[in-house]
Amino acid sequence: MIQTDFLVIGSGVAGLTYAVKMAERFPDRKIIVVTKATADETNTKYAQGGIAGVTNFETDSFEKHINDTLIAGDGLCNDQVVEIVVKEGVDRISELIQWGAQFDKDGQGEYALGKEGGHSEYRILHHKDVTGQEIERALIAKVQQFPNIEFIKHWFVLDLITQHHLGYLVTKSTPDIQCYGVYALNTETNQIEKILAKVTLLATGGNGQIYRTTTNPSIATGDGVAMVYRAKGRIENMEFIQFHPTALYEPGTGGQAFLITEAVRGDGGILRNKFGEAFMERYDERKDLAPRDIVARAIDSEMKITGTEYVYLDCRHMGKEKFIHHFPNIYEKCLSIGIDITQHMIPVAPAAHYSCGGVKTDEWGRTSILNLYAAGECASTGLHGANRLASNSLLEAMVFGHRAYQDAMEKVDRISIPANIPDWNAAGTTQPREMILITQSLKELQLLMSDYVGIVRTDVRLGRAMKRLDLLWEETEELYHKSTVSPQLCELRNMITVAYLVVKGAQFRKESRGLHFNTDYPGKSELIQNIVL
Ligand code: FAD
Ligand code: SIN
Repeated sequence: MIQTDFLVIGSGVAGLTYAVKMAERFPDRKIIVVTKATADETNTKYAQGGIAGVTNFETDSFEKHINDTLIAGDGLCNDQVVEIVVKEGVDRISELIQWGAQFDKDGQGEYALGKEGGHSEYRILHHKDVTGQEIERALIAKVQQFPNIEFIKHWFVLDLITQHHLGYLVTKSTPDIQCYGVYALNTETNQIEKILAKVTLLATGGNGQIYRTTTNPSIATGDGVAMVYRAKGRIENMEFIQFHPTALYEPGTGGQAFLITEAVRGDGGILRNKFGEAFMERYDERKDLAPRDIVARAIDSEMKITGTEYVYLDCRHMGKEKFIHHFPNIYEKCLSIGIDITQHMIPVAPAAHYSCGGVKTDEWGRTSILNLYAAGECASTGLHGANRLASNSLLEAMVFGHRAYQDAMEKVDRISIPANIPDWNAAGTTQPREMILITQSLKELQLLMSDYVGIVRTDVRLGRAMKRLDLLWEETEELYHKSTVSPQLCELRNMITVAYLVVKGAQFRKESRGLHFNTDYPGKSELIQNIVL
């Protein structure tokens, strides 16, 4: 058993921002950061475009950034949270720079600001086209300066510990569910350990892996959301899955799709269909820089009309030197598969990218479960509403990592943990003998989510998806209760839960708003509501 004051699950931008702050504030206390993979294998590491923030007050303003965020969010943003993130985000960016993160500058020594869909101004700080890698590098280096931060790698967190584990009945209506820590599988010893904590921060990232094609790495399986749902906490707005319009089309490669950052369109890249037509002007006056939901739907429609699996991103006119200067990683990747962007157009297609919904929090990152906070992509803070504005998520993760720290540090000494928390009960389980049962179910899940719960939805498709999910759920629960746990089985179980929440949210939302587009309800409902499950 491990006991600590502060437990952090996840080593991306949200978890590490919080950990650094807590470690600085309490040098004599231990902060434990658990991750199921290596320290840096996170969605954060793959971020390309950058962090949105108002840094040039001559051309930009908080009001403009707030307004752009609200327009993208399509009526569902929490105004107070938007203001908090936009205004406080500037201090968090400065802090990140003090901690060593480097962002590109122009010839005059000013930050070279990028632009992406839905932004009315150039306001995106970036490090070439590998901004996330630079942020993760800087954060891990900062963490290493604190001997009181203990990193536990390759431990898979299975479940939150609550009164349920003490034998009490816990339901959605239980008013004071409390989190006492987690059970986690040490994947090197195969032992399940109990980590007790006065305060736990969930920073477990996104869930792109529930789809067949995603920009997210394999860790993005929605574990945090599934754990909170099992613990009877509140989950919100899961139907709003953001599809990035331009993932590199590479058939047969499987796994994570390589992203072609929206910043390429910000620098002049043009989407064309198979006939070479620049089609975006037919869909939105902002053309290639319309918000993501609009661009992804336009591409989906062009692919259907022309019968192709991709469209093209044309960068041939952008100038080789300029392109390589800003996007060296994309240039090299394309070249490695025979695409010279100065001569060929890049084949691209939409891919699942970001979960706007998640664990419902208030403006301090507090979830509906006491002593449990959530920050980053696993959280639903109210910032994104029905559609996230590009490059707002790294910002949100830092702001809420900080806010959760502020709230938790005040409370920690008033929290106690009961003495009688049992160990994990693995009685009656045996090693699963057929991995195919897990791998095949995962394929089915990803296929059905892509085919029935993608960019364009209908009631019939959602109904079909739910029926198939029910069966997958039944089979997987049976396997889970008979088997000793493994990360693969637990991830499958979590992904089925998350997929269920996406479909349920989509079924409840009888309208088309932001990222949720249902052809049976093409208009917006007058009832503006968040869907809480
Ligand atoms: P992550 O960085 O995803 O970290 C999650 C952590 O949780 C990992 O350490 C993981 O191991 C751990 N974890 C998960 N489950 C468990 C478990 N069961 N047990 C133990 N540990 C667990 N956003 C922007 O603002 N700007 C961009 O330019 C941008 N570009 C992007 C490009 C790509 C290709 C992708 C995929 C995303 C991009 N995003 C961008 C989104 C942004 O990167 C993410 O939303 C953000 O980094 C999420 O950070 P996080 O700290 O919430 O989670
Ligand atoms: C991108 O670089 O296009 C991704 C930005 C984001 O997801 O915010």
